[in-house]
Amino acid sequence: MSLDERFRSEKAKWDEISKRQAQEVEIFPSGMDFHEFARQDAEFPGVSEFLGDLRGARVLELGCGAGVMAVLLAKAGAHVTAFDLSSESVRLTRHRASLNHVELEPLVSAGEFLPFASESFDVIIGKSILHHLVIEIGRRDLYRVLRKGGKAVFVEPLGMNPILTFARKYIPYPHKAVVGVDRPLTYDDMRAWNTEASEWQAQEIQFLSMLERAFGWDTRFEFLRKTDRFLLKNVPFLRRFCRYAVILSKK
Ligand SMILES: C[S@@+](CC[C@H](N)C(=O)[O-])C[C@H]1O[C@@H](n2cnc3c(N)ncnc32)[C@H](O)[C@@H]1O
Repeated sequence: MSLDERFRSEKAKWDEISKRQAQEVEIFPSGMDFHEFARQDAEFPGVSEFLGDLRGARVLELGCGAGVMAVLLAKAGAHVTAFDLSSESVRLTRHRASLNHVELEPLVSAGEFLPFASESFDVIIGKSILHHLVIEIGRRDLYRVLRKGGKAVFVEPLGMNPILTFARKYIPYPHKAVVGVDRPLTYDDMRAWNTEASEWQAQEIQFLSMLERAFGWDTRFEFLRKTDRFLLKNVPFLRRFCRYAVILSKK
């Protein structure tokens, strides 16, 4: 598939999803911002602490989707530039920002070619986006636009568990996202994305608690999260079988 065909199919898919999500735009309560969200959300362990104070920081969000994280980052005081390939997603991000009275710079762009000057951001962040991009092209620009000493955070699906790979491809379950050109990251992919990083680490998350996914992340299953914390700390071999990974990097 050519790059153009790839972009067309992703845009069509996410435009459609964003149009459906347009009915559900929330106004966040006054105390809610990125730090509060990251501390509450099991998919962002240690991220608020890693990034530190975001007031005045120039933050770039890749693949902003419906704009939830972009708005929360702006509410934490960051100057946020957020882009997506899907123009409907960017439209929704703008709408969400205006309802929440925050200023953002949302734009349509491909994550493989970043239309920004070198070293123009202090922080780069993305949730479930790297695995949609062509690594060999995208990795050239990612660290170019981050300033020296800047930080990058990505929360991405991990592709090391063959049973999970099978389920993602072939088994229908509630709340399942349509699979497109995306491909969950292997450890080799993470290394490839981070060739320009001065240091980086990945923390795997959701081993048994990945089962919650099929139940819409129901909190009745808190015991699975507790068991995960114990198992992943004490049996490192299991980490590769997790559903997601949090990648923390520095340039
Ligand atoms: C799984 S969604 C994640 C959206 C958002 N980050 C979130 O967590 O809700 C993936 C997003 O990546 C965008 N996307 C896919 N391919 C892209 C590309 N090549 N460049 C930029 N964005 C892309 C899609 O339009 C979609 O909004």
